[in-house]
Amino acid sequence: MDQLSENDYVIVDDFINDEMFNSIMEFFHEMETADKLKKAGIGAQQDYQVKAEIRGDFIYWLDEGRDVALKPFFDLKDELIQSLKRFCYLSLSGSEFHIAKYPAGSYYHRHLDQFNERTNRQITVLIYLNKDWKPGNGGELVIYKEDKEILVEPIAKRLLLFKSDVIEHEVLTTQVPRYSLTGWLLHQPAGIGFLLS
Ligand code: OGA
Ligand code: NI
Repeated sequence: MDQLSENDYVIVDDFINDEMFNSIMEFFHEMETADKLKKAGIGAQQDYQVKAEIRGDFIYWLDEGRDVALKPFFDLKDELIQSLKRFCYLSLSGSEFHIAKYPAGSYYHRHLDQFNERTNRQITVLIYLNKDWKPGNGGELVIYKEDKEILVEPIAKRLLLFKSDVIEHEVLTTQVPRYSLTGWLLHQPAGIGFLLS
């Protein structure tokens, strides 16, 4: 929590245990087999466009009510939100998560996770799911911070959190299929704070 506050990002290895890793991957492969992963786009609502030249991943948006196989993950996510509220004084309400697959040869150009109609993304959450990832496989995440470039390897069970409104980042071309669970913790809409505990 201190690192996130001070550096705008934090990496936590082995954030999930083997059991949760296996259940997420099992769910992931079920969705893949059922052809539920769709080409991702950029922009919200009327601005939404599918632009392969900007990002090449395939995603499936999670639904807590429907995707009950992931309940242990959703519980962990709720715990994470509680910790961030308590220790980072963040005002969070709600979240949105998807699973993402980057086929070999794909990437996501440098960007910020906020765009015109979507200014309520406060924290980006990435859980990487690439067992046996090794240098040369590519698909590293580059964090651009001041004049530094920080390279994050997308290794299985690693958590990366960063502030969505300040950290520009990029996914380098992956040489092998690359798996992740990605989400955003959303800022509490102004004016309704008193209604929420
Ligand atoms: C994104 C994104 C990074 C990653 O989905 O906005 O930047 O490492 N993902 O998958
Ligand atoms: Ni992003």
